[in-house]
Amino acid sequence: MVTFVLDGQTVTAEEGWTILDAAKYYGVDIPTLCYVEGLSPYSACRICVVELIRGKKSRLVASCSCPVEEGVEIRTKSPRVINARKMLIELMLASTPNSRLLQCLASEYGVTKIRFRPEDRRCILCGLCIRMCDEQMQGGAIGFSGRGVGREVSMPFHKTPEACRECGACLYICPVCELPCKGPLKPGELCNACLDTVQIDPFPSK
Ligand code: SF4
Ligand code: SF4
Ligand code: FES
Repeated sequence: MVTFVLDGQTVTAEEGWTILDAAKYYGVDIPTLCYVEGLSPYSACRICVVELIRGKKSRLVASCSCPVEEGVEIRTKSPRVINARKMLIELMLASTPNSRLLQCLASEYGVTKIRFRPEDRRCILCGLCIRMCDEQMQGGAIGFSGRGVGREVSMPFHKTPEACRECGACLYICPVCELPCKGPLKPGELCNACLDTVQIDPFPSK
């Protein structure tokens, strides 16, 4: 067993658990986007970031892939963590401004403006669709192509390959392929209308 401090409480966890596993076990809420139980972690979105402190050293780590360590302190809601999540939400909204899930996260974290130039790519490059197709559907029909701003999810030669059974699992798993949010009306602005509504659970049955 590994003993460490989680948000001020001394707790124990099994060897090999990730920080996210331990947080779930102890009922500590950490947001996730590119992580789904049953698929390999990819640590792409970083929204699950937490602060890991050992002695006088502190660093931000992705809780969905970082294992728990003996004697460390984990802070899931420190100012550093919240600021990092806010910046990530803003960056992701710049590439998917009408994602309802991201709009909800923005409201929850008090993000009211997108300071980056919005470019509606409808994808946060989380890789969930690729892992779903590969690991659960044994399809291997899609993958990342391109680099930098040209990086995207695509099929070979942009044609549906034989390996694709059109099962729809890639669409089902995508965190931002839901019905678009009606706001914001102007580029760069967030309506924050979800502030007063119940936050949606992206993966209710997963
Ligand atoms: S629809 Fe095609 S690409 Fe998508 S998960 Fe199914 S097999 Fe893979
Ligand atoms: S299409 Fe959706 S699931 Fe696939 S990488 Fe983009 S955001 Fe992630
Ligand atoms: S949920 Fe951990 S990096 Fe995306």
